Amino acid sequence: MSRMSWPFVAGNFPLITRTEGLYLYDDSGRKILDAAGGAVVSNIGHGRGRVAEAMAAAASETSYVVPPFQTPSRLALVDTLDQNWLPRSLTRAHFSSGGTEANEAAMKLALQYQQAIGEHQRVKLVGRSISYHGTTLATASISGHPGRKRGLESALPDYVSVPAPYPLRAPEGLNLDSIGQYYLDQMRDVLMAEGADTIAGFIAEPITGSSGGAIVPPEDYWPKVRSLCDELGIILILDEVMTGFGRTGLDFGYQHWPIEPDILVSGKGLAGGYAPLGGVFTNERVGSAIESAGYQVMFNTFGAHPSACAAAVEVLTIMREEELVERAATQGAYLHNQLSLAFSDHPFVAEVRGRGLLAAIEVVADRSTLDRFPQELSVSNQIVAEGLDRGVFYYFGGTGEVRDVVCLGPAFTATNSEIDQMVDVLVQSVTAAVGN
Ligand SMILES: Cc1ncc(COP(=O)(O)O)c(C=O)c1O
Repeated sequence: MSRMSWPFVAGNFPLITRTEGLYLYDDSGRKILDAAGGAVVSNIGHGRGRVAEAMAAAASETSYVVPPFQTPSRLALVDTLDQNWLPRSLTRAHFSSGGTEANEAAMKLALQYQQAIGEHQRVKLVGRSISYHGTTLATASISGHPGRKRGLESALPDYVSVPAPYPLRAPEGLNLDSIGQYYLDQMRDVLMAEGADTIAGFIAEPITGSSGGAIVPPEDYWPKVRSLCDELGIILILDEVMTGFGRTGLDFGYQHWPIEPDILVSGKGLAGGYAPLGGVFTNERVGSAIESAGYQVMFNTFGAHPSACAAAVEVLTIMREEELVERAATQGAYLHNQLSLAFSDHPFVAEVRGRGLLAAIEVVADRSTLDRFPQELSVSNQIVAEGLDRGVFYYFGGTGEVRDVVCLGPAFTATNSEIDQMVDVLVQSVTAAVGN
């Protein structure tokens, strides 16, 4: 037995020795249905041999090459993204080894852009009250996720925060016509109080991922936020680390609305979990200003790793060949339908929400008042543990303040019967944890 403690903080986790399709197999051969695609990563499912082969070929041809140099797999990835995935407006790419690094790079690019165009007073970045952008001091700090800041609060740099849309718990009296404007007004008020001309950029997830549990904003929210950013000279960074590359049933989450970001951030699904890779894509306005100013956009040693780029090319090609984004939309509709049927009358489930194959339930102590269970009960952890005991893995969500959220984010290849199992076991797990 090793003396070394890993994970750093101990927990009771299974030993997984094989992954295939939507399944994880532990060392005893027990099969676990992966309803969360790991950490909402595994978009094309596990065990695709051709991805592993492409990675092996890249590793044997160009094991490591410093990031700014070209390699065949890097060129192929840029070409695939340009031809088949990214909007025409995004013309520049920077690759990292994950979502955190990509968000941190995006935040720096927004700051550098403002300096490059002479807006020297624009030195602040704005995040949202319910959000998650990463683990570094800056990305953790700008995240609206108190649970992941514990023990760090007094050392974290300050970022401005605006209220994230949370329709379930919006103030009373709002309706579908007024709720988007309500959040927009809140945002405008904060920006004005800070001094709008001191703000460089605004970072947000188009559909809030696990921190809020798949919260979809009101229909008019994003077009209004885009206009506000334009009006106030603020760079819009969309964190699509969880929502990007098909997860919500369209290529990118923001495409549910008629907007485009200045900077798009991706991770997770870009290489489908086969390799660590993040991507930051900017429009020409941002890219050329930074280039003209002669600023460095420093790479991470393992950014754009040749094997990771080869994995991403293969994953993205499989997605197109098998029309998996369309499948995320149809299977997502099926999942939401089954979840709604299963939980519509459940006394402890306040809402089923999400888009495509990003879904969540919010569990409450009282459905009429929306009162939460006490935090110390860790209800979402209990539900996830009950699920695992029954052979299904769900993803816990919430921020500490937002809580008792359980997320689903399976591979887009999920069949109806696999989705049925995810829903049936979730009902059993909620009942086992809190009753019915
Ligand atoms: C929306 C979002 N942004 C950023 C991150 C951080 O990415 P990573 O864990 O790859 O550093 C995550 C991870 O869950 C995420 O969901």
